[in-house]
Amino acid sequence: ATADVGLIGLAVMGQNLALNMADHGYRVAVFNRTTDVMKKFVASENPPGGLVGCENLKDFVASIKKPRKIIILVKAGPAIDAVTKQLFEAGVEPDDIVVDCGNSLWTDTIRREKEYAAKCKFFGSGVSGGEVGARFGPSMMPGGDPASWKHLEPIWKAVAAKVDAQTGKPIETASPGKPVVGGVPCTTYLGPNGAGHYVKMVHNGIEYIDMQLICEAYTLLSNLLGMKAPELSKVFGTWNEGDLDSYLIQITEDILKQPDPVHKEGYLVDYVLDAAGQKGTGKWTSVNALDMGIPANSIAEAVFARCLSALKEERVEASKKLKGPAPSHSGNRDELIAAVRDALYCSKICAYAQGFQLMREAQKEYNWTFDFAAIASIFRGGCIIRARFLQKIMDAYTRDKNLVNLLLDSYFNEQIQKSQSNWRKVVALAATNGIAAPAFMSALAYYDGYRAERLPANLLQAQRDYFGAHTYERIDAPRGKAFHLDWPEPGRPQVDIVPGS
Ligand code: 6PG
Repeated sequence: ATADVGLIGLAVMGQNLALNMADHGYRVAVFNRTTDVMKKFVASENPPGGLVGCENLKDFVASIKKPRKIIILVKAGPAIDAVTKQLFEAGVEPDDIVVDCGNSLWTDTIRREKEYAAKCKFFGSGVSGGEVGARFGPSMMPGGDPASWKHLEPIWKAVAAKVDAQTGKPIETASPGKPVVGGVPCTTYLGPNGAGHYVKMVHNGIEYIDMQLICEAYTLLSNLLGMKAPELSKVFGTWNEGDLDSYLIQITEDILKQPDPVHKEGYLVDYVLDAAGQKGTGKWTSVNALDMGIPANSIAEAVFARCLSALKEERVEASKKLKGPAPSHSGNRDELIAAVRDALYCSKICAYAQGFQLMREAQKEYNWTFDFAAIASIFRGGCIIRARFLQKIMDAYTRDKNLVNLLLDSYFNEQIQKSQSNWRKVVALAATNGIAAPAFMSALAYYDGYRAERLPANLLQAQRDYFGAHTYERIDAPRGKAFHLDWPEPGRPQVDIVPGS
């Protein structure tokens, strides 16, 4: 056995991660269900030497040094179980570590770790950063048996993205064969069983809302100011130099200036069909938020915005029948651009507050102990949501590791105070001009709801008690004491307050 690590699944992510490991001096055994793909990949490797191509799983397993470290990068779902079981038949032993690096549901990882415990150490690790990330440095979110982590740690730390120790900015100078040397790796052990995949899922939920917010800024500016793609590209370019500096803003700048490759004139973005796809991680985040009773409303809103966009044909028909105001703006152009920037920034703070609030709750539910500064730290480079802003989140959780909500941190509170009047203006403009901006609006509703000492849930509780005798609590009684009134619904005699048990 000569390989330091094995990798199964040579689609884009698998190939790039294998090359990344090879660049760092690891000898990587590679296997793919379709042998031709493996052969082509190994033959095209340049410079050669780091990869051991295997045509069957027996040879693959035999070629890896013990305890074996085997990364699976196949489609999340039943394929993970199928491959794991095939590995057992091919000779994987109880001390070997099988790492699922896909976007698996964290509860599946918890289940798999238990189910396969007698046959291997099953480990889960989120990997973010797409193709380029996998090749030159992704953000890696490992969770599982701590002893297994000790074996994986050197590899994970080597291949992960690096940020500058002083500034926290991603170091983006890697090229094939020349990995980044030094810097702080964007990976840290997150906890046992499904902790890594859970954090990756929340990362994706935040990714959904981050993207949706950018799309809303784009639609507001194009509808209210009639700005065209290249002009908008410049706006995003400017934003990328300030607090909003992030990978997603940067790619938006690039996307908006891309000419259409088919037509001689125009920009590609204007020819892209406005029907969003999704593979489910944003939905999982939202479902989990609902299950745990955590108000991640903007994350869910971003998922629903994709769902609404996907009803393309229905929307086209509805657009002929359902009337609303025609967008227009007579105010100062630069002021509006600045206001939209502020709305985006404030909404983004709320989106991250929701994602981190969700993780706070999940750790109680699953007995994990998350280090939120460390989570923010590994999001600073490599992943899709990497942003200058993550350094500020890291600072906030370093100041107070038990911070209840990001909004309560002094820095973020101050940022919102500075920008909230513009945020409100933009939300009002969206409403009066008939432009759908669900993420901006829901983030503002989250902010205003969260800071409200009193919400109208008093009336809601009274309604529940009225029709269903669901009881209510009183402001002048201890929490938990239930009251019920026989409300004067027709057919029911009124009686006085009945103090609850
Ligand atoms: C990442 C991404 C990635 C995800 C895509 C597509 O962190 O690298 O989150 O894992 O698969 O972004 O997700 P959707 O198809 O759901 O948009």
